[in-house]
Amino acid sequence: MAKILIKNIKGIFQSGESLPTYKKGKQMDEGNLIENGFLAIDGDEIMSYGKMEDWGGITDWRDLEVIDAEGKFVLPAFCDSHTHAVFAATREEEFEDRIKGLTYEEIALKGGGILNSARKLQEMDEDQLFEDALKRTNRLIEYGTGAIEIKSGYGLTTEAELKMLRVIKRLKEASPLKIKSTFLGAHAFPPEYKENHQGYIDLMINEMLPKIHEEGLADFIDCFCERNYFTVAEMEELLAAGAKYNLVPKVHVNQFSIMRGIESALKFGARSVDHLEEMDTQDINALKGTDCMPTLLPGCSFFLSIPYGKAREMIAADLPVALATDFNPGSAPSGNVQFLLSLACAKMKMTPIEALNAVTLNSAYAMDISESHGSITVGKKANLIITESMTALARIPYSFGENAVETTILNGEIVYSK
Ligand code: NIG
Ligand code: FE
Repeated sequence: MAKILIKNIKGIFQSGESLPTYKKGKQMDEGNLIENGFLAIDGDEIMSYGKMEDWGGITDWRDLEVIDAEGKFVLPAFCDSHTHAVFAATREEEFEDRIKGLTYEEIALKGGGILNSARKLQEMDEDQLFEDALKRTNRLIEYGTGAIEIKSGYGLTTEAELKMLRVIKRLKEASPLKIKSTFLGAHAFPPEYKENHQGYIDLMINEMLPKIHEEGLADFIDCFCERNYFTVAEMEELLAAGAKYNLVPKVHVNQFSIMRGIESALKFGARSVDHLEEMDTQDINALKGTDCMPTLLPGCSFFLSIPYGKAREMIAADLPVALATDFNPGSAPSGNVQFLLSLACAKMKMTPIEALNAVTLNSAYAMDISESHGSITVGKKANLIITESMTALARIPYSFGENAVETTILNGEIVYSK
């Protein structure tokens, strides 16, 4: 298998053999940076890295590709731990409605929003859905993404939810990205169950979950716990059923209101609680001392003009923070992690290093791929970004809207180069 040597690297971010599983509190501002370094890849794994002066060479030079990264940084490829990247159609008309003054929640109550996406996805055939999603997710590689979590939740019938999850399964095989899948049947109540919530919960528990389990279609289970969507009690019933199939929760909570969904998700061993635009001290205290990753989605705050998550308060409370794009056609139609970093720094006052930790080590943890992704560690997958030549790492969030990535390497192969 091919070998790659990257030499004269200005800075290697997030490298180490004894990094914590995730960084929290003050640790979040530690970059574990090696200046003037080298990194060697053997096959699909990181073989060695260190300071240039410690480069010991390799004995077998056959098939070795050498990249001179003078003035450039090397980082772990970004891990995007929360997306809805499989969908049938974009929703520009709702964007215009919001520009004219309607809110996201008002549009949803009129039958738009998630139900709008569900109608379109139910009509689209599986192959088309797959082809579109493959193209859409491949483009993320150009911006440095190396791993993504993708949710179902635009199906809302057994047939369409299974279709979505099968598409995600096919993407796992066809894409160079590392992909994890999440069952989000509890994204919205389908219109036919508007007056019969229990009927839909029963459908998910008795029909969808057993089939999903049988085909091995989901790694996690999610629920949109929010006013006008799922109550805490409804979420608990679903998470309890998911637990029987060993589905760990990663849930949508506290987007518009505080319903104590965080405490409830923690009881079920949630890997992450996501959104958190609305948070109070009780929620922050509940997360302390747990291994649950609070995940902020500033792209959604930006696009819907809702509050940004209180990253500073969480970090001050010694919590970890992960960041994800929430890539979806309604509340965050961009999967660009670099723009996310700009928002995190400019709007939530995270330092560039904190934000970079939040999209590498911490988001890898949030999607349970820490063993193989999220840091530059010997034996982990060679999923890496080489930046353009730049003065400092802070250039990535600083130059918002630009693409600082020059090369993306996934599984030891150069899959994108400017
Ligand atoms: O994370 N809030 C729930 N789900 C998505 C939005 C889905 C949509 O509008 O299509 C989110 O923001
Ligand atoms: Fe989401």
